[in-house]
Amino acid sequence: MLHIYNATSSDFPIIQEIAYITWPDTFGAILSKEQISYMVEMMYSTAALTEQTTQKKHQYLLVKDETKHLGYASYELNYKGLSKTKIHKIYILPEAQGKGVGKLLMNTITDIARKNQDTILSLNVNRDNAAFDFYKNIGFEKVGEENIDIGDGFLMEDFIMDKKLV
Ligand SMILES: CC(C)(COP(=O)(O)OP(=O)(O)OC[C@H]1O[C@@H](n2cnc3c(N)ncnc32)[C@H](O)[C@@H]1OP(=O)(O)O)[C@@H](O)C(=O)NCCC(=O)NCCS
Repeated sequence: MLHIYNATSSDFPIIQEIAYITWPDTFGAILSKEQISYMVEMMYSTAALTEQTTQKKHQYLLVKDETKHLGYASYELNYKGLSKTKIHKIYILPEAQGKGVGKLLMNTITDIARKNQDTILSLNVNRDNAAFDFYKNIGFEKVGEENIDIGDGFLMEDFIMDKKLV
């Protein structure tokens, strides 16, 4: 049985542990080691997680089975003041991928977005990430591309993908 719940600051170590395992596995063949370390620190330090969940209103969800945590996602309702839910992150441990956990988290976020009367789900995905096909499989379409300068000479080279909820 999978259980999904709203993470709080006491769950930050669990999120960090999953990120430290899943990031190198996901991006090892796409990004340099230096860029992976830089991005993990930028996005998952305790200070960064605190800022996201307080100032930026990101909500983290954690998913677990009977024995352990399997992954997390984070989302933001009313993104930029629009009727849009932005999915900032979704990461499932390598050993738990391909078993429906990601889809369950996305369905949960979809229900929350609908209750909030948001009409679009939106996300960014690295152009070389296989997750692009996962998102297409669950109904997202590519609506744009962007290169985001994240400092230290690093870029995020992303596709923007949306899914309409109406
Ligand atoms: C991408 C990710 C979140 C998907 O979650 P998951 O639990 O592995 O995927 P699911 O098992 O729920 O798959 C749902 C559906 O998408 C399909 N799918 C999943 N990954 C796929 C892929 N790489 N290519 C094509 N289809 C894929 C599955 O076959 C399944 O299809 P079905 O419902 O028709 O059977 C997960 O694999 C992950 O964490 N990857 C590494 C981190 C990452 O890239 N995160 C996204 C950053 S933007």
